[in-house]
Amino acid sequence: MDKEQTKKLILEGEKSQAVRKKLVERTSKSAEVRFHGEQTLAQEIVGTVHLPHPIYIDSAEGPHLTDVDGNDYIDLTGGFGPMVLGNKPAVVEEALLGQIKKGWHFGIPSAPQQLLADIIKEAGACVDHVIFCNSGTEATMFAIRAARAFTGKQKVGLFDGSYHGVHDYALVKVDATSDRSRPTANFLGAGVPPVIAEDLSVTLPYRDEMAFEIIREQKGELALVMIEPVQSSNPRLDAGEFLHRLKEVCEECGVLFLLDEVITGFRIDYGGCQAHYDIKPDLATYGKAVGGGLPIGAVGGREDIMNTFSEKGNAPYIFTGGTFSGNPLTMTAGIAATTYMRDHQDEIYPYLMEQGNRLASEVNSFCELHQIPARIMNAGSIFHLVFTGGEINSSRDITEDWKIAEREFYLHLLGHGVIIPGIHLAFLSHAHKPEHVDAVIEAFRKSFEDMRADGII
Ligand SMILES: Cc1ncc(COP(=O)(O)O)c(C=O)c1O
Repeated sequence: MDKEQTKKLILEGEKSQAVRKKLVERTSKSAEVRFHGEQTLAQEIVGTVHLPHPIYIDSAEGPHLTDVDGNDYIDLTGGFGPMVLGNKPAVVEEALLGQIKKGWHFGIPSAPQQLLADIIKEAGACVDHVIFCNSGTEATMFAIRAARAFTGKQKVGLFDGSYHGVHDYALVKVDATSDRSRPTANFLGAGVPPVIAEDLSVTLPYRDEMAFEIIREQKGELALVMIEPVQSSNPRLDAGEFLHRLKEVCEECGVLFLLDEVITGFRIDYGGCQAHYDIKPDLATYGKAVGGGLPIGAVGGREDIMNTFSEKGNAPYIFTGGTFSGNPLTMTAGIAATTYMRDHQDEIYPYLMEQGNRLASEVNSFCELHQIPARIMNAGSIFHLVFTGGEINSSRDITEDWKIAEREFYLHLLGHGVIIPGIHLAFLSHAHKPEHVDAVIEAFRKSFEDMRADGII
């Protein structure tokens, strides 16, 4: 639908205006926080919804978030992915309280680092050794450096629709107007030196055989090909064959192969997508869930490559650092969360898969029945509502045409008591019991019905 027409329908729509009124009336403290924040904060990282102000959260428990005005929501934000066990799980809370009594930052390493490294090694098929850092961004940055040092080559291959964090190399994106099979590079945002796209990156088409040809052509310069086993722009679990072939081509070409498991690690399965797809990359990056909700990143991989971090085995030494890397509070939270996940893996992972699939299939059946041009794409508990009528093979098929309708949907959803983050990738957790998932499905239905009543979809 035409964007101007959608805006007009929203302005005139009874349901659209009613939900705005209701939300504005019950979120006056959020409005105050926004007003104060605007005076000094240049950016708030992510908006929740497009009211005149976002919603600010005060506390979290299990599958719930409570905002500063005391409104309760079912949380589908999942802390942007880490909260596999839900918000504030008792097992992590207790462990953190114990560590806080002992001190939370020493700089000099503490024993918990070794324990969490052992857990990642046990879970990750490719992991012989581990280093810790503070975010997924740092993890992919350090992994790229290790790959360059190890191979002596400079270029990094990344895929159309990918997300690997916010350092300069990760901000190379595909120009969405370029040839799908031979995509050219662009940047997300200004300020990234053009040389990174021109001389140091290779952009590859996702789930497209041509990627293998490009890797073969560039093998003399390619140090590393990195891929999310589940793209956040396009969550799906049918990429297994492509990933296995990609690994083979990388091996054949002497190019290192990295699975970016920052979202999928300890979420899709205890062993991440390495376990789900039975695949062993050269390197894997971790973040989010492995820190139990505290800031973390980790790189794991084959011993000879990981030796670049320690100068063992004559590997070229690379420099890494980080005041808070491996800090005891994060390590403690990570150990508590991942130990619980390990001990309950037979219950947690099938449950997350089943509930994620149920949510997608019930919402999608409703959309089909009522000819609503939207559907949920999901990889187990990771999901994204996409507004489009057509087939989706890659993120290229997700257009901006329905952006305004999509925003409107999230506003209605909030009105029905369910919160999804501004970036719209959403997560279920182990704390979302079947009745919470039922409530989410009902809120989706009601939100679609509201929009249909106003003629928007
Ligand atoms: C696959 C992937 N890699 C890296 C990152 C960056 O992680 P962080 O936000 O912790 O820097 C993200 C964040 O969403 C991610 O999804």
